[in-house]
Amino acid sequence: MPKPILLVTRKLPEAIEARASRDYDARLNPQDEMWATDGAEIARRAREVGAAGIFGAAGDALGTACIEALPESVKVIATFSVGFDHIDIAAAKARGIVVVNTPEVLSFATAETAFTLMLMAARRAGEGERMVRAGQWKGWAPTQLLGVTLEGKKLGILGFGRIGRELAAMARGFRMEIHYRDIQKLPPEVEQGAIYHDNEDSFLGAIDIISMHVPGGDANRHWLNAERIAKMKKGSLVVNSGRGVSVHDESLIAALKSGHVRAAGLDVYDGEPKVNPGYLALENVALLPHLGSATIEVRDAMGNRALENLDAVLLKGTEPPHRVA
Ligand code: DGY
Repeated sequence: MPKPILLVTRKLPEAIEARASRDYDARLNPQDEMWATDGAEIARRAREVGAAGIFGAAGDALGTACIEALPESVKVIATFSVGFDHIDIAAAKARGIVVVNTPEVLSFATAETAFTLMLMAARRAGEGERMVRAGQWKGWAPTQLLGVTLEGKKLGILGFGRIGRELAAMARGFRMEIHYRDIQKLPPEVEQGAIYHDNEDSFLGAIDIISMHVPGGDANRHWLNAERIAKMKKGSLVVNSGRGVSVHDESLIAALKSGHVRAAGLDVYDGEPKVNPGYLALENVALLPHLGSATIEVRDAMGNRALENLDAVLLKGTEPPHRVA
């Protein structure tokens, strides 16, 4: 039996490419060429090789036009990400194409990134690093780069899923008070003392820091806008390691300039890899390049998870464990 053909859109960790090549006729992308940002190109390549599966990643243009143009041979799309806002799920369902993702294994790492950003924003770490590198540091001073402590602050977690809960666990170690907003109040064993808000006004008014953990897509587009920022306390911090689309950049930039938001930490951007130039001119925002799950351990785990799901569909004919469509 010939091995199923697997079209891999991005360069993957070595062990993952080795496993994919062992079990599939894998068409790898060793130079990490960026063709998958063009949906027509994904479909063209899938047709050219007669792909049975597509092993894609966050940022691939797997929208309606791409999915409708895929050949009949494609049975499954696996995304190397927990987020699947880059895939038209309805179009995949209509074509009978299974879609799988990589949840759970990246929750702690992504929460670590959120916590890194929270500390960077609170303690002005980006500013300090830039000062040292530029040779501008004149020595210790009693009033230099004073930030704010996280201890005792009220952390508002928007979206209390796996990543939000990992962040809450870390924040308890910093003696922070955890508040959250989600579709519904969660059971006490999940809350672990976190305070639920059943409306956004009470949530936004109560917190000192907001950390965004909502999925991308239209439902959350520009959720954090000028109106909602105005409901937060003056001097609040904003952290986003979820999806860039959930923040209205112009509103956040205006609030960072006025000081209504003291500082922000961002790992994701609306329209990334483009970054709104307004952020680049500001000292009080820490900017990371979508590092959320970027650890050696987690990227291997994500790859293995994607392959377990692909194996279920293409090699074993069983239900994949992490199916989103
Ligand atoms: C995800 O998994 O959705 C991340 O954003 C990519 O690390």
